[in-house]
Amino acid sequence: MMSCLRSVAYLRVWIIMLSLSRNFCGMGGVTVAKEGCMFLEFAPAVGPRQYDWSKKKIIALSVVEVGTLLSLGPDESCEFTHDPFMGKSEAGKIMKVLKVGNLQDTGGYFFNLSVTDRIADVDESFSIPITKGEFSVMQSIFNFILPYLMGWHAYMDSTKLNESGHFKSGGPSIAKRPDLEWGR
Ligand SMILES: *[C@@H]1O[C@H](CO)[C@@H](O)[C@H](O)[C@H]1NC(C)=O
Ligand SMILES: *[C@@H]1O[C@H](CO)[C@@H](O)[C@H](O)[C@H]1NC(C)=O
Repeated sequence: MMSCLRSVAYLRVWIIMLSLSRNFCGMGGVTVAKEGCMFLEFAPAVGPRQYDWSKKKIIALSVVEVGTLLSLGPDESCEFTHDPFMGKSEAGKIMKVLKVGNLQDTGGYFFNLSVTDRIADVDESFSIPITKGEFSVMQSIFNFILPYLMGWHAYMDSTKLNESGHFKSGGPSIAKRPDLEWGR
């Protein structure tokens, strides 16, 4: 997990591992039931090092979106629009837009999230500046995590999975690895 605390807001990054299922017809191989995703969590600041968790907003990035952030060039920006109710009758009622791009003057990056919620009738937006160094730490974490989100480690060693395709206890758990804890 990686956290960036700022006077205006807080950004935390964490992941959900993919779920795997054993493919019994395929000689004990595994198939990816659902790819993992990476979460970016934003919370507004209400005072020095105090954040209002009741107003936190989360956006879950897919493997391809994580890849887009990984390959973001110094003069490029990207934008992801998510509708949590896509394909349902409430479609369009909540829209989340994440913009990431270069800050011209400092060489750092901005992470801007805006959430329009027509159900609760609230608009929330966050803007977090990230230094060049923090962004490159993020990118190396993303780089490391991507194969796990896609399940390559399980293909490499399916003996780490139990009958129902979950990691056996003691297996890799990215979120718990202390060397990925990074806060300040
Ligand atoms: C990001 O948010 C900041 C602060 O609200 C704003 O000044 C900037 O224009 C935004 N950038 C983009 C690309 O929306
Ligand atoms: C496999 O592991 C998961 C998570 O540790 C556990 O919940 C599940 O009961 C296990 N399944 C079997 C069949 O052992």
